[in-house]
Amino acid sequence: MNKHDTALVRSALDKSGFTFTEQVEQADVVLINTCSVRQHAEQRVFSHLGHLKHIKKGRADMIVAVIGCMAQRLGDKLLEHEAVDLVCGPAQIPQIADLVAKVLQDGQKKLAVTENIRQTAHEEQDQALEKFESTYGIEDKQIPGQAFVRVMRGCNNFCSYCVVPYVRGPEVCRPPAAIIEQIRKLADTGVKQVTLLGQTVNSYKYKSGERTCCLADVLAMASDIDGIEWLKFVTSYPSQEFFDPILQVMAGSPKVCDYLHLPAQTGSDKILRAMNRNYTAGDYLGLLDRARATVPDIAIAGDFIVGFPGETEEDFQATVDLVKRARYKNCFIFKYSPRPDTSADKRLQDNIPADVKKRRNIELLAVQGKISGELSERFLGKQVRVLVEGLSKKPHLDLVESKGEPQLVGRTATDYIVVFNGPQSLAGQFAKVKIARTSPLTLFGELT
Ligand code: 5AD
Ligand code: SF4
Repeated sequence: MNKHDTALVRSALDKSGFTFTEQVEQADVVLINTCSVRQHAEQRVFSHLGHLKHIKKGRADMIVAVIGCMAQRLGDKLLEHEAVDLVCGPAQIPQIADLVAKVLQDGQKKLAVTENIRQTAHEEQDQALEKFESTYGIEDKQIPGQAFVRVMRGCNNFCSYCVVPYVRGPEVCRPPAAIIEQIRKLADTGVKQVTLLGQTVNSYKYKSGERTCCLADVLAMASDIDGIEWLKFVTSYPSQEFFDPILQVMAGSPKVCDYLHLPAQTGSDKILRAMNRNYTAGDYLGLLDRARATVPDIAIAGDFIVGFPGETEEDFQATVDLVKRARYKNCFIFKYSPRPDTSADKRLQDNIPADVKKRRNIELLAVQGKISGELSERFLGKQVRVLVEGLSKKPHLDLVESKGEPQLVGRTATDYIVVFNGPQSLAGQFAKVKIARTSPLTLFGELT
Protein backbone atom coordinates (compact mmCIF):
# COMPACT_ATOMS: atom_id res chain seq x y z
CA MET A 1 0.00 0.00 0.00
CA ASN A 2 2.80 2.38 0.91
CA LYS A 3 4.85 1.57 -2.17
CA HIS A 4 1.77 2.31 -4.23
CA ASP A 5 1.26 5.65 -2.47
CA THR A 6 4.90 6.48 -3.13
CA ALA A 7 4.45 5.74 -6.82
CA LEU A 8 1.34 7.94 -7.01
CA VAL A 9 3.09 10.82 -5.25
CA ARG A 10 6.06 10.44 -7.56
CA SER A 11 3.85 10.62 -10.65
CA ALA A 12 1.98 13.63 -9.29
CA LEU A 13 5.20 15.52 -8.51
CA ASP A 14 6.66 14.55 -11.85
CA LYS A 15 3.59 15.99 -13.61
CA SER A 16 3.95 19.23 -11.65
CA GLY A 17 7.47 19.69 -12.99
CA PHE A 18 9.65 18.33 -10.20
CA THR A 19 12.68 16.25 -11.13
CA PHE A 20 14.05 13.47 -8.96
CA THR A 21 17.36 12.73 -7.33
CA GLU A 22 18.36 9.88 -5.06
CA GLN A 23 21.12 12.10 -3.66
CA VAL A 24 19.71 13.61 -0.48
CA GLU A 25 22.33 16.38 -0.41
CA GLN A 26 21.20 17.61 -3.84
CA ALA A 27 17.50 17.70 -3.07
CA ASP A 28 15.44 20.85 -2.52
CA VAL A 29 12.62 18.71 -1.19
CA VAL A 30 12.97 15.42 0.68
CA LEU A 31 9.89 13.24 1.04
CA ILE A 32 9.68 10.34 3.45
CA ASN A 33 6.71 8.04 3.09
CA THR A 34 6.12 6.31 6.40
CA CYS A 35 4.59 3.22 7.99
CA SER A 36 3.23 3.02 11.55
CA VAL A 37 2.48 -0.67 11.75
CA ARG A 38 5.38 -1.44 14.07
CA GLN A 39 7.52 0.79 16.25
CA HIS A 40 10.68 -0.24 14.43
CA ALA A 41 9.43 1.37 11.19
CA GLU A 42 8.81 4.62 13.03
CA GLN A 43 12.22 4.54 14.71
CA ARG A 44 13.89 4.30 11.32
CA VAL A 45 12.08 7.44 10.20
CA PHE A 46 13.29 9.30 13.28
CA SER A 47 16.84 8.27 12.55
CA HIS A 48 16.48 9.55 8.95
CA LEU A 49 15.12 12.79 10.36
CA GLY A 50 18.11 13.06 12.70
CA HIS A 51 20.41 12.74 9.69
CA LEU A 52 18.39 15.30 7.71
CA LYS A 53 18.63 17.77 10.58
CA HIS A 54 22.40 17.82 10.08
CA ILE A 55 22.18 18.13 6.31
CA LYS A 56 19.74 21.03 6.69
CA LYS A 57 22.31 22.98 8.73
CA GLY A 58 24.21 23.67 5.53
CA ARG A 59 21.09 23.78 3.35
CA ALA A 60 18.64 26.25 4.88
CA ASP A 61 16.48 26.14 1.73
CA MET A 62 15.87 22.38 1.85
CA ILE A 63 12.42 21.25 2.95
CA VAL A 64 11.50 17.89 4.45
CA ALA A 65 8.04 16.38 4.10
CA VAL A 66 6.85 13.40 6.10
CA ILE A 67 3.89 11.72 4.42
CA GLY A 68 1.76 8.64 5.14
CA CYS A 69 0.65 6.84 8.26
CA MET A 70 3.14 8.35 10.72
CA ALA A 71 2.12 11.80 9.56
CA GLN A 72 -1.51 11.00 10.33
CA ARG A 73 -0.70 9.30 13.62
CA LEU A 74 1.63 11.94 15.08
CA GLY A 75 0.42 15.11 13.31
CA ASP A 76 1.61 18.30 14.97
CA LYS A 77 3.99 16.38 17.25
CA LEU A 78 5.92 15.40 14.15
CA LEU A 79 5.80 18.94 12.82
CA GLU A 80 7.59 20.07 15.97
CA HIS A 81 10.68 18.07 14.91
CA GLU A 82 13.41 20.47 13.90
CA ALA A 83 13.94 18.79 10.52
CA VAL A 84 10.28 18.59 9.47
CA ASP A 85 8.56 21.25 7.34
CA LEU A 86 5.49 19.42 6.05
CA VAL A 87 3.35 16.67 7.55
CA CYS A 88 0.89 15.13 5.10
CA GLY A 89 -1.44 12.21 5.94
CA PRO A 90 -2.39 9.39 3.54
CA ALA A 91 -5.68 11.12 2.72
CA GLN A 92 -3.96 14.42 1.87
CA ILE A 93 -1.51 13.07 -0.71
CA PRO A 94 -3.73 14.31 -3.58
CA GLN A 95 -2.66 17.83 -2.51
CA ILE A 96 1.03 16.97 -2.22
CA ALA A 97 2.30 19.08 -5.13
CA ASP A 98 0.42 22.18 -3.89
CA LEU A 99 1.49 21.62 -0.31
CA VAL A 100 5.15 21.30 -1.26
CA ALA A 101 4.93 24.40 -3.49
CA LYS A 102 3.34 26.40 -0.67
CA VAL A 103 6.02 25.45 1.85
CA LEU A 104 8.77 26.19 -0.68
CA GLN A 105 7.19 29.58 -1.31
CA ASP A 106 6.45 30.89 2.16
CA GLY A 107 8.85 28.83 4.27
CA GLN A 108 6.17 28.12 6.90
CA LYS A 109 5.71 24.68 8.44
CA LYS A 110 2.49 23.01 7.32
CA LEU A 111 0.21 20.30 8.68
CA ALA A 112 -2.27 18.43 6.46
CA VAL A 113 -3.97 15.50 8.18
CA THR A 114 -7.55 14.32 8.76
CA GLU A 115 -9.27 15.43 11.97
CA ASN A 116 -11.46 12.77 13.60
CA ILE A 117 -10.49 10.19 11.02
CA ARG A 118 -12.98 7.58 12.30
CA GLN A 119 -15.89 9.84 13.12
CA THR A 120 -16.96 12.00 10.23
CA ALA A 121 -17.88 11.32 6.66
CA HIS A 122 -15.10 12.65 4.47
CA GLU A 123 -16.82 12.81 1.12
CA GLU A 124 -14.74 15.53 -0.47
CA GLN A 125 -11.59 13.80 0.65
CA ASP A 126 -12.78 10.49 -0.80
CA GLN A 127 -13.53 12.14 -4.14
CA ALA A 128 -10.08 13.73 -4.22
CA LEU A 129 -8.46 10.37 -3.44
CA GLU A 130 -10.47 8.65 -6.16
CA LYS A 131 -9.46 11.27 -8.72
CA PHE A 132 -5.81 11.07 -7.65
CA GLU A 133 -5.80 7.29 -7.89
CA SER A 134 -7.40 7.14 -11.33
CA THR A 135 -5.19 9.95 -12.70
CA TYR A 136 -1.81 8.82 -11.42
CA GLY A 137 -2.51 5.13 -10.87
CA ILE A 138 -2.08 4.46 -14.57
CA GLU A 139 1.56 5.44 -14.52
CA ASP A 140 2.46 3.43 -11.49
CA LYS A 141 5.08 1.10 -12.90
CA GLN A 142 7.89 0.62 -10.47
CA ILE A 143 8.44 -2.79 -12.04
CA PRO A 144 8.10 -3.04 -15.83
CA GLY A 145 4.96 -4.80 -16.98
CA GLN A 146 3.37 -4.75 -13.51
CA ALA A 147 1.09 -2.40 -11.61
CA PHE A 148 -0.85 -2.11 -8.39
CA VAL A 149 -4.48 -1.01 -8.40
CA ARG A 150 -6.06 -0.10 -5.09
CA VAL A 151 -9.61 -1.39 -4.85
CA MET A 152 -10.28 -0.20 -1.32
CA ARG A 153 -8.86 2.06 1.34
CA GLY A 154 -8.94 1.89 5.12
CA CYS A 155 -10.20 -0.87 7.37
CA ASN A 156 -13.14 -1.51 9.70
CA ASN A 157 -11.81 -4.61 11.39
CA PHE A 158 -10.08 -3.22 14.45
CA CYS A 159 -7.78 -6.11 15.20
CA SER A 160 -6.70 -5.13 18.69
CA TYR A 161 -2.97 -4.74 17.87
CA CYS A 162 -3.37 -2.80 14.64
CA VAL A 163 -2.93 0.90 13.96
CA VAL A 164 -4.24 0.83 10.38
CA PRO A 165 -7.91 1.74 11.13
CA TYR A 166 -6.69 4.83 13.01
CA VAL A 167 -4.35 6.09 10.32
CA ARG A 168 -6.04 5.02 7.11
CA GLY A 169 -9.60 5.57 8.31
CA PRO A 170 -12.82 3.67 7.63
CA GLU A 171 -13.13 1.19 4.79
CA VAL A 172 -14.03 2.77 1.45
CA CYS A 173 -14.42 0.63 -1.66
CA ARG A 174 -13.80 2.16 -5.08
CA PRO A 175 -16.45 1.89 -7.80
CA PRO A 176 -15.86 -1.19 -9.96
CA ALA A 177 -16.17 0.86 -13.16
CA ALA A 178 -13.24 3.07 -12.07
CA ILE A 179 -11.13 0.03 -11.19
CA ILE A 180 -11.81 -1.68 -14.50
CA GLU A 181 -11.16 1.50 -16.46
CA GLN A 182 -7.83 1.90 -14.70
CA ILE A 183 -6.83 -1.70 -15.46
CA ARG A 184 -7.83 -1.23 -19.10
CA LYS A 185 -5.62 1.85 -19.37
CA LEU A 186 -2.76 -0.01 -17.72
CA ALA A 187 -3.17 -2.87 -20.21
CA ASP A 188 -2.99 -0.32 -23.05
CA THR A 189 0.42 0.78 -21.78
CA GLY A 190 1.74 -2.79 -21.79
CA VAL A 191 1.00 -3.89 -18.23
CA LYS A 192 0.64 -7.67 -17.99
CA GLN A 193 0.17 -8.22 -14.29
CA VAL A 194 -2.13 -6.25 -12.03
CA THR A 195 -2.20 -6.70 -8.25
CA LEU A 196 -5.38 -5.48 -6.60
CA LEU A 197 -4.73 -3.88 -3.23
CA GLY A 198 -6.81 -3.65 -0.08
CA GLN A 199 -6.24 -4.20 3.64
CA THR A 200 -8.94 -6.88 3.52
CA VAL A 201 -9.18 -7.17 -0.23
CA ASN A 202 -11.44 -10.23 -0.25
CA SER A 203 -14.18 -8.31 1.53
CA TYR A 204 -14.33 -5.71 -1.25
CA LYS A 205 -17.94 -4.90 -2.00
CA TYR A 206 -19.66 -2.11 -3.88
CA LYS A 207 -23.40 -1.66 -3.81
CA SER A 208 -25.17 -0.01 -6.69
CA GLY A 209 -28.95 -0.31 -6.62
CA GLU A 210 -29.93 -3.90 -5.93
CA ARG A 211 -26.61 -5.35 -7.00
CA THR A 212 -23.49 -5.86 -4.93
CA CYS A 213 -20.24 -6.22 -6.81
CA CYS A 214 -17.66 -8.28 -4.90
CA LEU A 215 -13.99 -9.04 -5.50
CA ALA A 216 -14.82 -12.17 -7.52
CA ASP A 217 -16.85 -9.96 -9.91
CA VAL A 218 -13.97 -7.49 -10.26
CA LEU A 219 -11.56 -10.36 -10.95
CA ALA A 220 -13.92 -11.82 -13.56
CA MET A 221 -14.32 -8.45 -15.30
CA ALA A 222 -10.59 -7.78 -15.21
CA SER A 223 -9.95 -11.24 -16.70
CA ASP A 224 -11.79 -10.11 -19.83
CA ILE A 225 -9.31 -7.30 -20.48
CA ASP A 226 -6.95 -8.08 -23.36
CA GLY A 227 -3.28 -7.77 -22.49
CA ILE A 228 -3.73 -8.50 -18.80
CA GLU A 229 -2.38 -11.98 -18.23
CA TRP A 230 -2.00 -12.28 -14.48
CA LEU A 231 -4.23 -10.94 -11.73
CA LYS A 232 -3.21 -11.11 -8.09
CA PHE A 233 -4.78 -9.58 -4.98
CA VAL A 234 -3.48 -8.83 -1.48
CA THR A 235 -4.23 -9.06 1.44
CA SER A 236 -7.10 -11.39 2.34
CA TYR A 237 -8.79 -11.67 5.71
CA PRO A 238 -9.74 -15.21 6.82
CA SER A 239 -13.50 -14.65 6.82
CA GLN A 240 -16.20 -16.74 5.22
CA GLU A 241 -17.43 -13.68 3.37
CA PHE A 242 -17.05 -14.02 -0.41
CA PHE A 243 -14.37 -16.69 0.02
CA ASP A 244 -15.93 -19.36 -2.20
CA PRO A 245 -16.75 -17.09 -5.18
CA ILE A 246 -13.12 -15.93 -5.19
CA LEU A 247 -11.88 -19.53 -5.23
CA GLN A 248 -14.32 -20.32 -8.03
CA VAL A 249 -13.03 -17.51 -10.21
CA MET A 250 -9.45 -18.55 -9.38
CA ALA A 251 -10.20 -22.10 -10.45
CA GLY A 252 -12.08 -20.98 -13.57
CA SER A 253 -9.91 -18.18 -14.92
CA PRO A 254 -6.36 -18.89 -16.08
CA LYS A 255 -5.56 -15.23 -15.46
CA VAL A 256 -6.40 -15.18 -11.76
CA CYS A 257 -3.19 -16.45 -10.14
CA ASP A 258 -3.42 -19.36 -7.73
CA TYR A 259 -2.02 -17.41 -4.83
CA LEU A 260 -3.50 -16.23 -1.53
CA HIS A 261 -1.93 -14.09 1.15
CA LEU A 262 -4.08 -15.07 4.11
CA PRO A 263 -2.65 -13.97 7.46
CA ALA A 264 -3.66 -16.13 10.45
CA GLN A 265 -1.63 -14.06 12.99
CA THR A 266 -1.68 -16.86 15.61
CA GLY A 267 -2.81 -20.46 15.98
CA SER A 268 -4.19 -20.00 19.51
CA ASP A 269 -7.94 -19.48 19.81
CA LYS A 270 -7.42 -17.59 23.06
CA ILE A 271 -5.00 -15.15 21.40
CA LEU A 272 -7.20 -14.88 18.30
CA ARG A 273 -10.02 -13.71 20.57
CA ALA A 274 -7.72 -11.23 22.31
CA MET A 275 -6.63 -9.99 18.89
CA ASN A 276 -10.29 -9.49 17.95
CA ARG A 277 -9.89 -11.72 14.89
CA ASN A 278 -13.29 -13.33 14.51
CA TYR A 279 -12.29 -16.87 13.58
CA THR A 280 -10.75 -19.88 15.27
CA ALA A 281 -7.70 -21.86 14.17
CA GLY A 282 -10.14 -24.58 13.10
CA ASP A 283 -12.13 -22.13 10.95
CA TYR A 284 -8.89 -20.96 9.39
CA LEU A 285 -7.67 -24.45 8.52
CA GLY A 286 -11.14 -25.17 7.14
CA LEU A 287 -10.71 -22.25 4.73
CA LEU A 288 -7.33 -23.63 3.61
CA ASP A 289 -8.91 -27.04 3.01
CA ARG A 290 -11.63 -25.46 0.89
CA ALA A 291 -9.05 -23.43 -1.01
CA ARG A 292 -6.98 -26.54 -1.77
CA ALA A 293 -10.03 -28.58 -2.73
CA THR A 294 -11.06 -25.94 -5.29
CA VAL A 295 -7.59 -24.82 -6.47
CA PRO A 296 -5.28 -27.82 -5.91
CA ASP A 297 -1.92 -26.11 -6.51
CA ILE A 298 -2.75 -22.91 -4.69
CA ALA A 299 0.22 -21.25 -2.96
CA ILE A 300 -0.58 -19.70 0.39
CA ALA A 301 1.41 -17.12 2.30
CA GLY A 302 0.79 -16.07 5.89
CA ASP A 303 1.54 -13.44 8.52
CA PHE A 304 2.09 -14.15 12.21
CA ILE A 305 2.62 -12.07 15.30
CA VAL A 306 4.57 -13.70 18.11
CA GLY A 307 4.67 -12.46 21.69
CA PHE A 308 1.20 -10.93 21.78
CA PRO A 309 0.30 -10.04 25.41
CA GLY A 310 -0.52 -13.17 27.40
CA GLU A 311 0.90 -15.60 24.81
CA THR A 312 1.97 -18.70 26.78
CA GLU A 313 4.28 -21.47 25.53
CA GLU A 314 1.11 -23.47 24.90
CA ASP A 315 -0.36 -20.67 22.77
CA PHE A 316 2.89 -20.45 20.85
CA GLN A 317 2.87 -24.22 20.29
CA ALA A 318 -0.62 -23.84 18.82
CA THR A 319 0.88 -21.39 16.33
CA VAL A 320 3.70 -23.81 15.50
CA ASP A 321 1.08 -26.55 14.94
CA LEU A 322 -0.99 -24.32 12.70
CA VAL A 323 2.07 -23.39 10.63
CA LYS A 324 2.94 -27.08 10.24
CA ARG A 325 -0.57 -27.94 9.15
CA ALA A 326 -1.06 -24.94 6.86
CA ARG A 327 2.02 -25.66 4.75
CA TYR A 328 2.57 -22.07 3.68
CA LYS A 329 4.75 -21.19 0.76
CA ASN A 330 6.24 -18.50 2.99
CA CYS A 331 5.36 -16.53 6.11
CA PHE A 332 6.03 -13.06 7.40
CA ILE A 333 6.65 -13.30 11.14
CA PHE A 334 6.61 -10.25 13.39
CA LYS A 335 7.26 -9.62 17.05
CA TYR A 336 4.33 -7.90 18.73
CA SER A 337 4.89 -4.17 18.85
CA PRO A 338 2.45 -2.17 20.98
CA ARG A 339 0.89 0.66 18.99
CA PRO A 340 -0.43 3.68 20.90
CA ASP A 341 -4.24 4.08 20.88
CA THR A 342 -4.96 0.51 19.76
CA SER A 343 -7.18 -1.48 22.11
CA ALA A 344 -4.44 -4.05 22.85
CA ASP A 345 -2.14 -1.26 23.95
CA LYS A 346 -4.82 0.36 26.09
CA ARG A 347 -6.05 -2.81 27.76
CA LEU A 348 -3.16 -5.27 27.79
CA GLN A 349 0.35 -5.12 29.07
CA ASP A 350 3.16 -5.93 26.64
CA ASN A 351 4.23 -8.68 29.03
CA ILE A 352 6.23 -11.05 26.85
CA PRO A 353 9.95 -10.29 27.33
CA ALA A 354 11.95 -9.26 24.27
CA ASP A 355 14.15 -12.38 24.40
CA VAL A 356 11.09 -14.66 24.44
CA LYS A 357 9.60 -12.84 21.45
CA LYS A 358 12.92 -13.21 19.67
CA ARG A 359 13.19 -16.92 20.43
CA ARG A 360 9.64 -17.60 19.25
CA ASN A 361 10.26 -15.60 16.11
CA ILE A 362 13.41 -17.61 15.30
CA GLU A 363 11.72 -20.91 16.13
CA LEU A 364 8.71 -20.21 13.94
CA LEU A 365 10.93 -19.05 11.08
CA ALA A 366 12.83 -22.34 11.31
CA VAL A 367 9.62 -24.40 11.22
CA GLN A 368 8.42 -22.43 8.21
CA GLY A 369 11.86 -22.52 6.55
CA LYS A 370 11.77 -26.31 6.50
CA ILE A 371 8.31 -26.34 4.90
CA SER A 372 9.28 -23.65 2.37
CA GLY A 373 12.34 -25.73 1.47
CA GLU A 374 10.24 -28.85 0.89
CA LEU A 375 7.71 -26.97 -1.24
CA SER A 376 10.46 -25.32 -3.31
CA GLU A 377 12.14 -28.68 -3.96
CA ARG A 378 9.07 -29.88 -5.82
CA PHE A 379 10.07 -27.51 -8.63
CA LEU A 380 13.42 -29.24 -9.28
CA GLY A 381 13.75 -30.18 -12.94
CA LYS A 382 10.46 -28.49 -13.80
CA GLN A 383 9.87 -25.60 -16.14
CA VAL A 384 8.10 -22.55 -14.74
CA ARG A 385 6.68 -19.45 -16.38
CA VAL A 386 7.83 -16.20 -14.82
CA LEU A 387 7.12 -12.55 -15.31
CA VAL A 388 10.59 -10.99 -15.32
CA GLU A 389 11.05 -8.09 -12.91
CA GLY A 390 14.59 -7.04 -13.85
CA LEU A 391 18.10 -7.39 -12.50
CA SER A 392 18.45 -9.50 -9.39
CA LYS A 393 19.40 -7.19 -6.53
CA LYS A 394 21.61 -9.54 -4.63
CA PRO A 395 24.11 -11.56 -6.63
CA HIS A 396 23.82 -15.34 -6.28
CA LEU A 397 27.41 -16.42 -6.82
CA ASP A 398 26.65 -20.09 -7.24
CA LEU A 399 24.10 -19.62 -10.00
CA VAL A 400 24.53 -22.11 -12.84
CA GLU A 401 26.91 -20.84 -15.53
CA SER A 402 26.47 -17.18 -16.44
CA LYS A 403 27.02 -17.01 -20.24
CA GLY A 404 28.05 -13.41 -19.75
CA GLU A 405 24.47 -12.42 -19.06
CA PRO A 406 23.26 -10.66 -15.94
CA GLN A 407 21.24 -12.33 -13.21
CA LEU A 408 17.55 -11.62 -13.55
CA VAL A 409 14.73 -12.13 -11.11
CA GLY A 410 11.13 -12.95 -11.85
CA ARG A 411 8.10 -14.40 -10.12
CA THR A 412 5.79 -17.23 -10.97
CA ALA A 413 2.00 -16.90 -10.94
CA THR A 414 2.11 -18.46 -7.48
CA ASP A 415 4.60 -15.83 -6.30
CA TYR A 416 7.76 -17.97 -6.22
CA ILE A 417 10.92 -15.93 -6.75
CA VAL A 418 13.04 -17.28 -9.62
CA VAL A 419 16.64 -16.24 -10.36
CA PHE A 420 18.32 -17.01 -13.70
CA ASN A 421 20.74 -15.52 -16.24
CA GLY A 422 19.33 -13.67 -19.21
CA PRO A 423 19.28 -10.44 -21.19
CA GLN A 424 18.06 -7.40 -19.29
CA SER A 425 15.66 -6.69 -22.16
CA LEU A 426 13.45 -9.47 -20.74
CA ALA A 427 12.29 -7.17 -17.92
CA GLY A 428 8.52 -6.85 -18.16
CA GLN A 429 8.24 -9.98 -20.35
CA PHE A 430 7.26 -13.55 -19.63
CA ALA A 431 9.98 -16.17 -19.76
CA LYS A 432 10.31 -19.91 -19.17
CA VAL A 433 12.92 -21.15 -16.77
CA LYS A 434 13.97 -24.71 -15.99
CA ILE A 435 14.67 -25.08 -12.28
CA ALA A 436 18.06 -26.57 -11.42
CA ARG A 437 18.42 -25.73 -7.74
CA THR A 438 16.20 -24.48 -4.95
CA SER A 439 16.44 -22.78 -1.59
CA PRO A 440 13.51 -22.18 0.77
CA LEU A 441 12.66 -18.80 -0.71
CA THR A 442 14.22 -18.88 -4.18
CA LEU A 443 14.25 -21.11 -7.25
CA PHE A 444 17.33 -21.02 -9.51
CA GLY A 445 17.37 -22.11 -13.10
CA GLU A 446 18.13 -21.61 -16.75
CA LEU A 447 16.20 -19.78 -19.40
CA THR A 448 14.71 -22.26 -21.85
N1 5AD B 1 2.90 -5.65 15.99
C1 5AD B 1 3.48 -6.60 15.22
N2 5AD B 1 3.02 -6.92 14.00
C2 5AD B 1 1.94 -6.26 13.54
N3 5AD B 1 1.25 -6.37 12.39
C3 5AD B 1 0.25 -5.48 12.41
N4 5AD B 1 0.25 -4.80 13.56
C4 5AD B 1 1.30 -5.27 14.29
C5 5AD B 1 1.82 -4.98 15.58
N5 5AD B 1 1.26 -4.05 16.36
C6 5AD B 1 1.58 -7.34 11.36
C7 5AD B 1 0.42 -8.28 11.06
C8 5AD B 1 -0.07 -7.80 9.73
C9 5AD B 1 1.20 -7.27 9.10
C10 5AD B 1 1.01 -6.31 8.00
O1 5AD B 1 1.87 -6.65 10.17
O2 5AD B 1 0.92 -9.60 10.95
O3 5AD B 1 -0.66 -8.83 8.95
FE1 SF4 C 1 -5.15 -4.18 10.68
FE2 SF4 C 1 -6.85 -6.20 11.12
FE3 SF4 C 1 -7.48 -4.26 9.36
FE4 SF4 C 1 -5.54 -6.02 8.75
S1 SF4 C 1 -7.71 -6.50 9.06
S2 SF4 C 1 -5.46 -3.76 8.48
S3 SF4 C 1 -4.60 -6.39 10.76
S4 SF4 C 1 -7.23 -4.01 11.58
